[in-house]
Amino acid sequence: MNPGFCQLPFEWLGEIINLAAERIVVVDQDGIIKYINDAYCDFIGTTIENAINKPVQDVIENSRMHIVAKTGQPELAAVQSINGSEMIANRHPLFVGGDLVGAVGTVMFGNPQEWWAYSSKIQSLLDELKYYKTKYEKELRSKYKFDDLIGISPEFTALKKLAERVSGSQSAVLINGESGTGKELFAHSIHGKSSRSIFPFVPINCASIPEHLLESELFGYEEGAFTGAKRGGKKGKFETAHYGTIFLDEIGDMPLSMQSKLLRVLQEKEIQKVGGQKTISVDVRIIAATNRDLEKMVSEGRFRQDLYYRLNVIKLDIPPLRERGEDIVLIASSLIRKLEKKFHREGILLSGHVIQKLKNYSWPGNIRELENVLERAINVLDGRIIEAKHLPLYLRDQELDGGPASNQLSEQDFLDDGPSLSLKENAEIAEKRAIKKALNLAGGNKQKAAKLLEVSKTTLYDKCRQYGI
Ligand SMILES: Nc1ncnc2c1ncn2[C@@H]1O[C@H](COP(=O)(O)OP(=O)(O)OP(=O)(O)O)[C@@H](O)[C@H]1O
Ligand SMILES: [Mg+2]
Repeated sequence: MNPGFCQLPFEWLGEIINLAAERIVVVDQDGIIKYINDAYCDFIGTTIENAINKPVQDVIENSRMHIVAKTGQPELAAVQSINGSEMIANRHPLFVGGDLVGAVGTVMFGNPQEWWAYSSKIQSLLDELKYYKTKYEKELRSKYKFDDLIGISPEFTALKKLAERVSGSQSAVLINGESGTGKELFAHSIHGKSSRSIFPFVPINCASIPEHLLESELFGYEEGAFTGAKRGGKKGKFETAHYGTIFLDEIGDMPLSMQSKLLRVLQEKEIQKVGGQKTISVDVRIIAATNRDLEKMVSEGRFRQDLYYRLNVIKLDIPPLRERGEDIVLIASSLIRKLEKKFHREGILLSGHVIQKLKNYSWPGNIRELENVLERAINVLDGRIIEAKHLPLYLRDQELDGGPASNQLSEQDFLDDGPSLSLKENAEIAEKRAIKKALNLAGGNKQKAAKLLEVSKTTLYDKCRQYGI
């Protein structure tokens, strides 16, 4: 016996037991109750006098204490039904001097209400967890399918067919196309039609993540890998995408140092977390996308040739909107239906004049720009017909700025003081013009353009998205 125990006055023991285990029952090897405290008696609606020296199964509903006293096998956190409620019981065999002499049982909750309050608290946490888990899993599913890709022009139809056909393959896909042409939609659709569709689709934008964070985003990090690293470390995108697809968007903006690391992963099919030693196998299909000319970047030494070959197994070139003349009206109509839902409107139509203008324009920002133009028009629309006056000035006056091929905004944009041109719109036009100019000067390199504009790459990236550039 523990020598410290002998020093305790006997009458203390009952109180100590009550404090240590609120509800406690002790049976001998025959399952006869030898000790039970008030709390347990209150719990089951009896008294100590009525319970003591009785077979435990006669006193406690669904008890298994007599069994544990015989088998010597503990039963921990067992669910036991008492008074129509589910309780959590712990049943320990009692060994003294190596011999099984009985069993000790405790119940973790004093009354059904207490258990109920506890379980509903846990239940709400479990519900919350389930909600975030579903939301997270939903985030990791492809959001678009091939049916969402509108277009009937022969070139686009052939491209869509090719993409559908290669969905089933495990090979890497490289999607090339100007900004806003639907690269992301294609990537989602390919994953959604592949055998990997029940596994995650994990997009990562290589342009919007600062260079020093890209590696840990892609491969994760171990706890303590760097100051500010989260406890327990973090899973990287590759690990999250296991058995699924990783979508490396804006791959042309990936720094050379990262390109080498990516190449290694594609070759070895395993990753190593930042600050970690062990390798983790990953089975991931790669879809990469860019609006840059990767071949040119390879010849200039700005993109690794070996990586380019690895990514460019299946190439999909998405045509710009201006080369899809017969699709413009079809896409515009489908976008209008989508926007009608968003703005709770219906029956919105395009005037013949507007259709002509949409067809004539060069759409440097492609479908995203068309979407922005239509959303703006619906915002300022009083009736049901979108007329030329609802279009932004650069579209209204396109004849003045050099015809369909021009992306530039004309001076007219600033001279015309039409009623819908607010200060905000003026500022937006100026921003848009500055961004286009900087991108032109930087040869499409967003990093250089951001430097010229004296903004961060992330800000420039957000602005380009906002303005459909
Ligand atoms: N074929 C299409 N039919 C209908 N809508 C489309 C089509 N292609 C793209 N869109 C719409 O155009 C917008 C831009 O598409 P997406 O984001 O896929 O372009 P992106 O090529 O990835 O552009 P960026 O290079 O700027 O990232 C989206 O809102 C998308 O819904
Ligand atoms: Mg994209």
